[in-house]
Amino acid sequence: MTRVITYGTYDLFHQGHYNLLKHAKALGDYLIVGVTSDTFDKGRGKLNVHDSLMTRIENVRKTGLADQIIVEEYFGQKIDDIHRYDVDIFTVGSDWKGHFDYLQEFCKVVYLPRTKGISSTEIRNRHMLRMGIIGAEGIALRFAEEARFVSGLELAGIYETDARKDQEHYIAGMLQVREYEGLDALLQDVDAVYVAAPPIHHAAYIRQALEQKKHVLVEYPAFFTVREAEELYALAKEKQVLLFHGLKTAYCPAFQRLVSMAKSGMIGNILSVDANFTRVLGNQLQERCREASGGSMMALGEYPLLAFFKLLGLDFRKIAFFSRTNAEKKDIYTRFFVQYGNAIGSAGIGLDAKSEGNLVVTGTRGYIYVPAPWWKTEYFEVRYEDLNQNRKYFYKFQGEGLRYEIAEFLHCIRSHKPSAMLTAEESVQMARVLEQYRRQDNVESI
Ligand code: CTP
Repeated sequence: MTRVITYGTYDLFHQGHYNLLKHAKALGDYLIVGVTSDTFDKGRGKLNVHDSLMTRIENVRKTGLADQIIVEEYFGQKIDDIHRYDVDIFTVGSDWKGHFDYLQEFCKVVYLPRTKGISSTEIRNRHMLRMGIIGAEGIALRFAEEARFVSGLELAGIYETDARKDQEHYIAGMLQVREYEGLDALLQDVDAVYVAAPPIHHAAYIRQALEQKKHVLVEYPAFFTVREAEELYALAKEKQVLLFHGLKTAYCPAFQRLVSMAKSGMIGNILSVDANFTRVLGNQLQERCREASGGSMMALGEYPLLAFFKLLGLDFRKIAFFSRTNAEKKDIYTRFFVQYGNAIGSAGIGLDAKSEGNLVVTGTRGYIYVPAPWWKTEYFEVRYEDLNQNRKYFYKFQGEGLRYEIAEFLHCIRSHKPSAMLTAEESVQMARVLEQYRRQDNVESI
């Protein structure tokens, strides 16, 4: 009996997939089909796969061509599978020609002709989300560059106020996109917007976009006040569009794993979360303070708050802030403590300060240590009193990390569901803390 194996994502199952499976089956007597897991696809940079693993498996099963379906979960699994299933022939489409020659050591490798004119990417791109950028903050450029790694999104152009047309011009030139004269012109031309303006202008822009039924992805810090945040989420609901809070760490695969592990009791009950994020901005300080519409708390406060809310919940009792301010009255360094019923969060954030940027989650049985920069989590360790039990976990964090956020934004629009990775409630609670800080409620100078 000749045993054949082939692999694929099989997203939005199409004729090309069917033809490939038919030809693969004809190469032998028994066909094994490996379908990639979601984590494996994310890890190899294939973001924005539309169908769930179960749907993709089901579509392969329905062809009646596969004798066995397995899940491909890690790099190097193909060699293991060839041994495990006694495979004689490995096959894939000719788009992979040469790529799998290294398997010839273990079995025969056949590249089958690929069906012309169709692919999952092409089908995903048939329904492109047209997106406009509002505001020409530096992050807009990084956002656009990262968006290229997520299929299904097309950048229409950018709008910025007259005072900052130079910056708009520069970004539009770099991205080769249109510059819009007015906000209305941009809104009429797109399905969604990315708001990368100074936070002080967020609410007005978001409101205008939502009124016109456009989905909104807003960069952090998203909102200034609880009222503003609640009103805008309510408006998004009424207009049946998505209001999405962009804070990249929330959407990183490793950060989500870390949260799930900590919450599942791996380190016992969580007693404290300590998170630091500091930078020395030097002569960029003034500009960054202006862009963030404030100092350290506005510019960076949402990162530790994300860790606290994910790990300790939203029901904190009180917050105490300790700030060092500069001559312009901006906090260049703030330490703050969020007190819960039976746990505490502590953070050190600074725009003119440097400290170790790590995250430590202390539990009754052990702790999780995430080295700097924890907000771009790629690796963490779970440590115990008994060193033999310590474990290290590695995940991929590609590029600037914004691509995970963009992929989740598209996924939420498609599935008509808000993200569980950063909920509206968490977002409103972030606004509550920032509002308290701006009111100088329980802020002491150091
Ligand atoms: N395939 C094919 N003909 C096509 C598309 C895919 O023969 N027109 C084959 C691939 O070579 C591979 C298998 O189908 O052996 C599964 O491919 P997959 O990557 O899931 O499909 P694509 O449509 O190529 O997906 P994407 O555009 O996301 O890369």
